[in-house]
Amino acid sequence: MKTVFINCSPKKRFCASAYFLSLQRLFVGGEKITERLRTPADDERILQKLQDADAVVFCLPLYVDGVPSHVLRFMEKMEAHCLAGGLRFHVYCIANNGFIEGKQNEPLMRVFECFCARAGLTWGGGVGVGGGVMLNVYRIVYAAQLGLLLLRTVLNAVETGSFLAQGALLSFAESTAIILFLNLGVLVYLIRMGCHIRKGTFSGKKYTRIMVPSFLFILFADIFFVIISLFEGGLFRGWLSRKKYQEPSTPHGSALA
Ligand SMILES: Cc1cc2nc3c(=O)[nH]c(=O)nc-3n(C[C@H](O)[C@H](O)[C@H](O)COP(=O)(O)O)c2cc1C
Repeated sequence: MKTVFINCSPKKRFCASAYFLSLQRLFVGGEKITERLRTPADDERILQKLQDADAVVFCLPLYVDGVPSHVLRFMEKMEAHCLAGGLRFHVYCIANNGFIEGKQNEPLMRVFECFCARAGLTWGGGVGVGGGVMLNVYRIVYAAQLGLLLLRTVLNAVETGSFLAQGALLSFAESTAIILFLNLGVLVYLIRMGCHIRKGTFSGKKYTRIMVPSFLFILFADIFFVIISLFEGGLFRGWLSRKKYQEPSTPHGSALA
């Protein structure tokens, strides 16, 4: 069985789609191929990988209550490609959004459902995840905590000769419990969808969210976006992307000229 996973986030690094995709991969057996769809240059390469696929899993962010435009453009090409080649496989979808309710991904799921009907493919269902940004930020924090645990273990070994840094282990166990709890809904539905992908059956549309009460989510989201805005919207993207310097253009005949 061959499953093609397509990460459709346009972000270069640290995207939430990559996170959910890697979780889904854990619960699917057989041959697994992961592709990235960011620009039109990726289209042809991905289409070639679909040739003998049994299932395709799209993992993408919700943009303006819908499918991001670069994914729509790819879907148009894929529809023609599948019809011309008589391709038949199941299509599944994992969508995540910034706001807390996963149900906001419903219109996006319907687009995929219609796409499958048009392209002669079988709609396998999907999972919509609310609070995707927050889950993604927490998994980055968790990775940093793992690094901290290793560091404290080494320091403890140097100081006391024992690798058992009890305090560090306890605080890491606490973080593990928190991340598992926050991701509980996501894990349940991804495990469930993984079973359906393996069997080639319909998993239905399921919506879940980060497991925090809405009032707490709003509080944290407000703090997060205030910090982000202090960095002119690019705390992660801005730091990590390579920037090209552009000469500021002087408007012809303006007061500045
Ligand atoms: C252009 C744009 C439009 C967005 N529109 C929505 C939206 O309508 N609803 C929502 O809840 N989140 C929206 N978001 C937030 C993304 O869905 C969210 O950041 C998601 O976690 C990004 O996933 P990624 O990291 O895999 O790219 C939007 C983000 C961008 C950049």
